[in-house]
Amino acid sequence: MILVTGATGSIGRHLVRRLADRGVEFRALVRDAAKGRALGCDHVVGDFDDPGSLTAAFDGVDRLFLNGPGAQAVDGEQPMVRQIGAAIDAAVAAGVERVVKISVWHAAPGGRLSEGAHGELDRRLAATDLHWTVLQPSGFLQNLLGPAAFTSDGRLISRYGDGPISHIDCHDIAACADVLLTGPARPGETFVLTGPEALTDAQLADRVAAALGRPVGRVALTPGDLATALAGQGAPIGFAEDLAELLRGAAAGSLAEVTTAVPDLLGRPARTVDEFLADNLTELRKSADGQGS
Ligand SMILES: NC(=O)c1ccc[n+]([C@@H]2O[C@H](COP(=O)([O-])OP(=O)(O)OC[C@H]3O[C@@H](n4cnc5c(N)ncnc54)[C@H](OP(=O)(O)O)[C@@H]3O)[C@@H](O)[C@H]2O)c1
Repeated sequence: MILVTGATGSIGRHLVRRLADRGVEFRALVRDAAKGRALGCDHVVGDFDDPGSLTAAFDGVDRLFLNGPGAQAVDGEQPMVRQIGAAIDAAVAAGVERVVKISVWHAAPGGRLSEGAHGELDRRLAATDLHWTVLQPSGFLQNLLGPAAFTSDGRLISRYGDGPISHIDCHDIAACADVLLTGPARPGETFVLTGPEALTDAQLADRVAAALGRPVGRVALTPGDLATALAGQGAPIGFAEDLAELLRGAAAGSLAEVTTAVPDLLGRPARTVDEFLADNLTELRKSADGQGS
């Protein structure tokens, strides 16, 4: 039995659909029973913040897809370290055999962002006897559908200067997780997952414009602007500083490489930005018109 955590999220929802379509036995962990019913699959209510609920959720589970919330700065800490750490503990206690964990590209212990938190968690997972595989994706194309992608007048918010980013479609991350959960195990391996091309924000805005059939302007925010805005919203100063540092690295090309991990695992090319935009046009329009999620 596979347990899918983060089942309602950007990767999990694709994974759930894939497993269900093939009749693979799995259970989704959800915090809200109504969301579980909407998924339309076997589900169990549980919360990383309630370790007791995880004990019940892990009953009979031998394989785990481990994913949860992204970066949040709460009192200068990343709650995901405690939350995903509780799920790793529950997996060990339940005798789970195989774990596929979502991490992030350039994860390394230290710092206050998700890279530091995932670095700590990946190291913790590696110290267990679990058969773990770690997926370290580049930036998600699905971020274009979120609330921080466009200004209220429909311009793309550009954070990476002229740094090209090899964005990935979460559909491909889910497909890789599927292969690693249901195919031969790849214990002890870490895969950096990227899309098939690296685009600057200017090139991305042009692709979005072509998909929407209207011009798409850009608002360029410098790392310093973002750090100041975040600090103004109450984010701890260290978080804002670390984010500025991360964005400076991306502007200098730290997320530009295109890896072969997706085609190697799936036996087909990674999905392109244009395929993603065409498949998500309705949501993209809402996001760009200021009515997104
Ligand atoms: N966004 C990117 O570009 C990017 C790039 C590389 C790596 N990542 C990593 O990808 C992961 C997913 O990030 P995302 O922003 O795309 O999130 P997401 O998968 O869209 O959503 C997070 C999922 O975790 C669940 N969740 C949240 N809090 C939980 C809790 N306390 N207990 C159990 N489940 C909980 C949510 O369920 P509910 O429906 O109940 O909220 C949701 O299903 C993160 O680890 C992030 O660091 C993100």
